Amino acid sequence: MTSNATVTTLKSLLGQSVKLQGWVHNLRRSGKLSFIELRDGTGFVQCVIEDANLPANELEELNAVTRESSVEISGIVATHPKHADEYELHAKNFKLIHKSEEFPIGKKEHGPDFLLDQRHLWLRSKKQWAIQRIRNTIIESTYAFLYQEGFIKMDSPIITANACEGTTTLFGLEYFDLGTAYLSQSGQLYLEAGIGAHRRVFDFGPVFRAERSKTRKHLAEFWMMDAEMAFADHQDNMKLQENLVAFMVQQVLSKNGNELKMLERNEEPLRKVVAPFPRITHREAVLKLQELGSEIKEDMDLGAGDETLLAQVYDVPIFIERWPAKIKAFYMKRDPADPSIALAADLMAPEGFGELIGGSQREDSYEMLLERMKEEDMPIEPFQWYLDLRKYGSVPHCGFGFGLERLVAWIAGVEHIRETIPFPRMLYRNKP
Ligand code: 4AD
Ligand code: MG
Repeated sequence: MTSNATVTTLKSLLGQSVKLQGWVHNLRRSGKLSFIELRDGTGFVQCVIEDANLPANELEELNAVTRESSVEISGIVATHPKHADEYELHAKNFKLIHKSEEFPIGKKEHGPDFLLDQRHLWLRSKKQWAIQRIRNTIIESTYAFLYQEGFIKMDSPIITANACEGTTTLFGLEYFDLGTAYLSQSGQLYLEAGIGAHRRVFDFGPVFRAERSKTRKHLAEFWMMDAEMAFADHQDNMKLQENLVAFMVQQVLSKNGNELKMLERNEEPLRKVVAPFPRITHREAVLKLQELGSEIKEDMDLGAGDETLLAQVYDVPIFIERWPAKIKAFYMKRDPADPSIALAADLMAPEGFGELIGGSQREDSYEMLLERMKEEDMPIEPFQWYLDLRKYGSVPHCGFGFGLERLVAWIAGVEHIRETIPFPRMLYRNKP
């Protein structure tokens, strides 16, 4: 009896006869033996095929096979001769489903532009496969953690009439007869409405930033998870974030050991990611950075070079908290004891991967929020609904948002964020 199997289940099928379906990732012939590295979506496995074991018509199909052809291979599951914890298939039958044309991505080095043009095919390569598996674990663990903490998912709109994170990075579109609308930069403002109904809510979806930057940390479309909670303050906010991040790193370490190995990711720094994370104020960060030779001034945001400098000092994620209010968003609550300070925290990745999370306590007073908006010359009408939330049972509340691709880049150890999203959208790229 031959049963259908996938690569991940082979472990429990030792000595049994199984059929695998997949694609030829690599092939090598040596005399009367063929070695096919089969990729079936769930993993990679070596199939050893002896010419003498195949019926004549199947041998003909085997001889015609090319890289990336789709095939079915049946045989007996055995342990790998050199690695006791790996499995291989000793083939008895071979079937060619579709013979692939010459695959454009070869074993030689290709430049990033070529690979990005071939993104629809590049996704099949080992490293790209491993990155998406890790991304999936981060998504899965985010949902698991937040559900366990009593959050519900409440989806935010993507088409909006107002900006969340300033007007300089908005993508506009014509919206019927209502004039210009915008693609969302973050669902946060809508989640602040959600907490009035559900107390703890999160969203997780694509957001858009028309940022004319070409750094390795910026995309025009990326996935953000925003979380928002009622009856919680700045301290509660950081605690939830560090527990979430520590949990997702643990999950990746336990579920994606194989993938981390494929990516040659050093696991040591990941093992150090244990809550609580260090907290330093923005002022302390500036002083430390100046000591390290940075040009940063008191009321400035950190530059990319600063993120790298800080990573020389801390080998775990750190919160930079208590920011100068004037360089932070209008909705952030100020410290009642020092109104020049916003009760905000950014979580910075170690190893120079930059900002992972932005979060803050929110201004919960109608008058203060209105004043802040007027100071910034913001139009009031499109935000009236947001101001209204402060009229009907306003509560202390806070929240944060992470960029999924930043987390994946850091945890998987991928230099450029463009490889962490299936189909990246950047300044000079909107296809495939
Ligand atoms: O710091 P940001 O702008 O914060 C917000 O949008 C808040 N409304 C979130 C909230 O409080 N609910 O963005 C949050 C995170 C950043 O820390 C970063 O990880 C990521 O989103 N991010 C980007 N990722 C990729 N490409 C870009 N252009 C990004 N801009 C921000
Ligand atoms: Mg930010």
